[in-house]
Amino acid sequence: MSVRRALVTGGAGFIGSHVAEALASDGYDVTVLDDLSSGRRANVASGIRLEELDIRSPEAAGLVRTGGFAVVCHLAAQIDVRKSVADPVADASRNILGSLNILEAARQAPKPPRVVFSSTGGAIYGDFAEPPSDEGESKDPESPYGIAKLATEYYLAYYGRVHRMDVVSLRYANVFGPRQDPHGEAGVVAIFCQRLLGGTPLTVFGDGRQTRDYVFVGDVARANVLAAGAALPAAGRLDERAFNIGTGVPTSVLELAASLQRVAGSGTKIEHAAARPGEQQRSFVSIAKALSVLKWAPKVALDAGLRTTFDWFRTQATPQAPSHVAS
Ligand SMILES: NC(=O)c1ccc[n+]([C@@H]2O[C@H](COP(=O)([O-])OP(=O)(O)OC[C@H]3O[C@@H](n4cnc5c(N)ncnc54)[C@H](O)[C@@H]3O)[C@@H](O)[C@H]2O)c1
Repeated sequence: MSVRRALVTGGAGFIGSHVAEALASDGYDVTVLDDLSSGRRANVASGIRLEELDIRSPEAAGLVRTGGFAVVCHLAAQIDVRKSVADPVADASRNILGSLNILEAARQAPKPPRVVFSSTGGAIYGDFAEPPSDEGESKDPESPYGIAKLATEYYLAYYGRVHRMDVVSLRYANVFGPRQDPHGEAGVVAIFCQRLLGGTPLTVFGDGRQTRDYVFVGDVARANVLAAGAALPAAGRLDERAFNIGTGVPTSVLELAASLQRVAGSGTKIEHAAARPGEQQRSFVSIAKALSVLKWAPKVALDAGLRTTFDWFRTQATPQAPSHVAS
C-alpha cells in the first residue's frame, strides 16, 4: 500500500501533538507545521518531522501545495478568547488569513488533500443557543475568536462547494488533557490542577453552576483520524461537513472542582469571586451526528481523563499557579 502523508498544522501544541501521534499510529507519514509561538518542540514525537513555519507564510503555502498530503489537519491558531477581544486584528491575522493561506494552497495542490479544520463548539453557537447545540443551531459567536472560526468554516464550505475540495470541520467542546495550556477553552482544568499541586485555593467565579462540556484530548485526536479517512457525502452547505466533538454532558465548575479534589486527594479550599460579566452560563453540544456519520463516540470518562491529566501536571517540574482563571 502507498504511504499516506498527513500534515498537522499546530502539531507542536496541545491538541495537535496528540493528533499527530494518533495519525502516526494509524500508519500516516506525519509532518508537523508549527511556528512554536505557543507550541513546543518537545511535544513533537520522534519520527514526526517538524517544519518551523508560520501558516501565513509563502513557505507554509509551498509545503501544503507540494507535500503530497492526503490530509491536512489544520489546528494552528491563536486560541486565547481574551486575546481575541483585546486584539481582534492579530487574532484574525492568524485565525482567518492564516487559515485562508493554508486552504488556498491546498486548492492549488496537484491532488488537493482533505482539510480537517479544528473549529469550536464552545464559542461558535453563542448565548442565544439552547444547549445541547446541534450543528444546525444558529451561530452568534460572542468573541472575535468565535467569529474567526465561523468565518473559516464559511471559507471551507465555499472551497467545498465551488472548488469541490474535500473539507471537514470538527467543532470541539472544551478539550482537556496532558500538555494543555491554561489559556485554552478548557483552561480551568489546567489551572485547577496547578493550584491543587501548589496547595492554593481554587477560584470559582459566580455561583460555579455555569456548565461546560469537557472532552478528553485522546478522544479528540481519534475524531481527527476518523475524519481524515471517513467516506462522506459531497461538501455543500456550512453545517453539512461539520461535527460537534464533545460528550453531550454538561459539567458545572463546582462539579469539576469536586472531581479534581477527589483525584488529587486534596481538600484545597474553594473560593468564590464575583461572576465575570458576559460569561456564558450553559454550554454543551449534541454529538449525535459524529456518532452516526463518523462512528465516533468519546471513550474516556471525565474522572479517568482528569486523573490522567492531573498525573501529567504532577510530573511537570515547577507547577505555577496562574493569577487568573479561564473557562
Ligand atoms: N483547547 C480547546 O479546548 C479547544 C476548543 C475548541 C477548539 N480548539 C482549537 O483546537 C486547535 C488547537 O488548540 P490547542 O488548545 O491545542 O492550542 P495550542 O496553542 O496548544 O496549539 C496551537 C498551535 O498552533 C501554533 N501556531 C499558532 N499560530 C501559528 C502560526 N501563525 N503558524 C504556525 N503555527 C502556529 C502554536 O505554536 C501551537 O503549537 C486550535 O485551532 C483551537 O482553536 C481548541
